[in-house]
Amino acid sequence: MAHEYVEIEGISVPTGHFIGGEHVSSVETFETRSPMQWDWKLADIARGTKETANQAVTAAVDAFPVWSRYTVQDRATCLQHLADLIDENKDDIATVECLDMAMLLESLKLRLIPRAALNFRNYANIIIDAEERAWSSKGTLNRIIRMPAGPAVIITPWNAPFMLSTWKVAPALASGNTVILKPAEWSPLSTAKLTEFINEAGFPSGAFNIVQGFGSDLGAALVSDPRVKRVSFTGSPETARKIGHAAAENIVPFTAELGGKGPLIVFEDCDLDAAAKKAAGQFDDSGQVCLAGTRLLVQTGVMGDFLKLFHAYTDQHVMGDSRDAATTMAALIHPLHIEKVAAFVERARANGDKIIRGGKVHKEGRLWYEPTLIQPKSNNSEIVQNEIFGPVLTIQDFETEEEAIALANSTKYGLSGIIYTSSAERAERVGRAVRSGIVWINCFLIRDLSAPFGGIGESGIGREGGDYALDFHADLKTLQIYEGSVT
Ligand code: NAI
Ligand code: MG
Repeated sequence: MAHEYVEIEGISVPTGHFIGGEHVSSVETFETRSPMQWDWKLADIARGTKETANQAVTAAVDAFPVWSRYTVQDRATCLQHLADLIDENKDDIATVECLDMAMLLESLKLRLIPRAALNFRNYANIIIDAEERAWSSKGTLNRIIRMPAGPAVIITPWNAPFMLSTWKVAPALASGNTVILKPAEWSPLSTAKLTEFINEAGFPSGAFNIVQGFGSDLGAALVSDPRVKRVSFTGSPETARKIGHAAAENIVPFTAELGGKGPLIVFEDCDLDAAAKKAAGQFDDSGQVCLAGTRLLVQTGVMGDFLKLFHAYTDQHVMGDSRDAATTMAALIHPLHIEKVAAFVERARANGDKIIRGGKVHKEGRLWYEPTLIQPKSNNSEIVQNEIFGPVLTIQDFETEEEAIALANSTKYGLSGIIYTSSAERAERVGRAVRSGIVWINCFLIRDLSAPFGGIGESGIGREGGDYALDFHADLKTLQIYEGSVT
């Protein structure tokens, strides 16, 4: 039997599911460990089954008529209250996530957990401000209404788990849908912490459920339940295919935010120091970031100078305990993951790609991997074409703008792109030509929560953020009202 709570470094963390407003324990459990010290078992967490999925969907179905009839103001009040509770508890949530996935503590406290609170606060404001679209034509008034759709299943990955799940949960709840969230099994603890605040925030029982467990059984059962009306997923393309099949079977709208292999394009007219610093910054979080610019594309004339600066900035990285403020590169999440990253690099070596720096585990038997730069033998090399999700960048040169664009658009992904140039015209041309959901020009990772977010190609389907997520979570209806006198 799972204990309902576990104490980790003086912080209590619920270990069960949260279904119908109650913590529910389970006979089967799975363990979660700390990447910073793999023999440190943090907790045994409830491992959900098909029956758990069934219970959670039933709770969400039962709560839907209640939650969907809350007024917009009452829904917004719950969202705001949840945001306040996240803010009040941000240090504990950050610590727990830092221990569980080795994300840097400082960045969690300053950036990611406050951003999670902001996700709820932002959607509270968005639904209050949302205006019904209406116009007259052909003697009738057209009114477009967003109707809540029903229970939504949200499946999230192990990186930045708290922030990424709230990014999806907030619009679903704001829309009047009920939610069943399943976090990833490699980093369940910060989301488990969230279960403590849902009742206090004022949500009715069953409006927001969280279940813990694996994708293959619990996740698969959730996404194939015909009572579910929306499926929102962030993770890998392989899993997206399976979930997409399940959603198609039930003819249910499905959105997927998937992997990336973003280009970071450095033109010779740019601020080279800023570009090199940002390029070395792609090793932050040890590259476990879907949006990272992992393919450095550098104009030939500045390649030498760029590399000097890049190496100098990369030398400043510190691999260490993520609780330590000096650390910039975290341990990778799991022994299986570092094996996967290392295998990518070994295959590159065998393929004849040139390892310029790194290319090995930092300390044998531990989970840090050295910041690695690889010059591929060709653009077809696997190391260029596939997402690695670790601290591994490739570097290629180009002569012309057209060549840069062709290289940028040469993978199956299209999530993000980064361009460094001092020319506004070039920024506009290349920014438009790069095929991805977002292109940053002379910056990185700044994003307004109301802007659309999502990928092209194998980086995903659909857009979230602002009104885009409200449209996804709603059944849109047209009310067509005759404006003349009825005869
Ligand atoms: P994953 O696809 O292995 O797992 C993601 C989630 O899906 C987990 O909760 C897992 O339990 C669940 N799952 C697995 N099989 C399932 C099934 N058959 N049915 C239902 N659920 C199932 O991905 P992982 O390794 O956890 O995350 C890393 C991936 O996520 C990378 O590819 C990364 O690029 C992507 N990602 C994309 C982001 C974006 O916004 N575009 C943001 C963060 C990560
Ligand atoms: Mg863990």
